[in-house]
Amino acid sequence: MEEKGAASGRGGGRRTITQMLVVGAIASAAGIAWGIAIDWFPMQGSTAADDIDTLWDVLVVISVPIFVLVTTVVLFAARDFRMRPGEEGLDGPPIHGSTRLEVIWTALPAILLVGLCTYAYIVLDDIESAPANAAQERRIGVTGEQFAWTFDYNEGGRKFTTTQLHVPEGESVQFLIKSKDVIHDFWVPDWRMKLDAVPGITTSYRVTPTALGRHEIVCAELCGIGHAFMRQTAVVDTPQAFRTWVDKQLAAREGQAAGGGDGAAGGDGAAGGGGTADVNAKALFLEGNTAGATACGACHKLADAGSSGGTGPDLDEVLQGQDAAAIQESIVNPNAKITSGFGEGIMPANYEELLSPAELKALVAYLAEVTK
Ligand code: CUA
Repeated sequence: MEEKGAASGRGGGRRTITQMLVVGAIASAAGIAWGIAIDWFPMQGSTAADDIDTLWDVLVVISVPIFVLVTTVVLFAARDFRMRPGEEGLDGPPIHGSTRLEVIWTALPAILLVGLCTYAYIVLDDIESAPANAAQERRIGVTGEQFAWTFDYNEGGRKFTTTQLHVPEGESVQFLIKSKDVIHDFWVPDWRMKLDAVPGITTSYRVTPTALGRHEIVCAELCGIGHAFMRQTAVVDTPQAFRTWVDKQLAAREGQAAGGGDGAAGGDGAAGGGGTADVNAKALFLEGNTAGATACGACHKLADAGSSGGTGPDLDEVLQGQDAAAIQESIVNPNAKITSGFGEGIMPANYEELLSPAELKALVAYLAEVTK
């Protein structure tokens, strides 16, 4: 008698359940179709990308019906069990739980979560597994600092540091990630891999790039005022082009260190400066120095040095036609004049301390020469 009244007057009857099932099924189907149809990700640029994108799709297919179930029950309950005029003083029926229901709604989500975690773990383990020739695997040091990345190579014992990231297509590479100051996060969206650079420890992940060309490097951890500008480019070369690039990097450094063998840049810079002949200005621009000066090329684009950093202004543009005095002022006192579109306080203001007088002079002469 009472039960029947509750069912017809306050919802919860068979008809309501049927309505909920129909609405839920339609909403789930539409939600899944929409979730799969959306192109969530950038291009697939590594062997990990397909596995990760599939994992995402599976999560969408499973999460949408759960979201729909919860939302549908809440909306129907609000419709059928809402308080009507005249019921303000009434209380609901005293319910003391249902063991059967509680077991079901605890066990089902638990099983689902354990299953999804296992699947995700298997995918991660698969992606991070060492290649067959792990001993010969290329390792590249990645160092984050406010607000740039630098890369340390060791190609068959020949070491160099650069602000450009080049990797060969189709070869597994392990990145050893460090930070000089605060927490950064080394992320190349096209590769799908992403990991924090934490001061004091080295973290690592491996990637096998599969797409030639340029891919954006993004810092994915809020690290200070220049965080949004902490972007560089990863270039994936054919193995042959990669070897050529490595040889060029080594030649540029060795040639200039040996006394300006690399033509215009080193030679003219030294000639204009006087007393700077022993400073390799281009290498200084690309690598910084051991006193802690960050490589200029990590943040600035400069055609002569081949750097592509976008944290700071493009030097080919902003330094064009500037004389040595103006260039020196921009280096030692970067906040005096800010290029529009860039923020104040992003470039360190202590280059005058970090560079020796000879280094500063050589750098200014070099920049004046190549941006004439
Ligand atoms: Cu480095 Cu954000």
